[in-house]
Amino acid sequence: MKVIKVKNSDELGVSAAEFVSERLMSLEKPIIGLATGSTPEKLYANLIKKCQSKEISFKNVTTFNLDEYVGLAQDDPTSYHYYMDKNLFNGIDIKRENTHVLDGEAEDLQKECDHFERLIQETGKMDLQILGLGLNGHIGFNEPGTSFNSRTHIVELSETTIKANARFFPTIQDVPTKALTMGIGTIMEAKEILFLVQGEHKAEILQKVVHGKVTEGVPASILQRHPNITLITDIDI
Ligand code: F6R
Repeated sequence: MKVIKVKNSDELGVSAAEFVSERLMSLEKPIIGLATGSTPEKLYANLIKKCQSKEISFKNVTTFNLDEYVGLAQDDPTSYHYYMDKNLFNGIDIKRENTHVLDGEAEDLQKECDHFERLIQETGKMDLQILGLGLNGHIGFNEPGTSFNSRTHIVELSETTIKANARFFPTIQDVPTKALTMGIGTIMEAKEILFLVQGEHKAEILQKVVHGKVTEGVPASILQRHPNITLITDIDI
């Protein structure tokens, strides 16, 4: 794992945006996996700036998001559809038909997962997958205990994740208990991974992820085995 050490979330946003921009410029039709949450917010803000100043373009880019809550409408401000529109898609020149976010309101959720997985396989492997890290070691919404071979699937969110994400909702009771997520098997097939981890509250879990045993109990520990991964973090590891 290559490591880029930064001082704070601002530097992380700048460094990650440089990293993503270089990949966008070197690939003809980039396929990028996207994460939501607090960590990539400054990355996306910097990508918008670079796109608006014509330094980069998303015209030939296809994106797949890692996950979405079950039961939230796309225009619900707490859904990941809404997050992506607000934090990235509305500010860049991407073709809407090339953006893919799981539909958490699908009538048949399993069918939605299978369709999403098929679409990824047909489009081609992710050239670059952006990942954040959950407090319990999750990547996407793959909670501890998820098989390393998993594909896009329905998950029950853990207590830790519900508590951690309650800050985005009016009350903790409003946090959905289920979600759809790209599987760990799918994530590991990405040609390259950009792993973003920010804040002292993630220090303990990041040590386990980077230096601990590779175990399904700590989903992100599998990243030790990815051949082309860069960690950008403000944590000493
Ligand atoms: C979100 C996702 C999650 C987050 C993780 C960290 O799409 O895949 O795994 O990356 O929960 O979230 P933040 O950045 O809010 O601490």
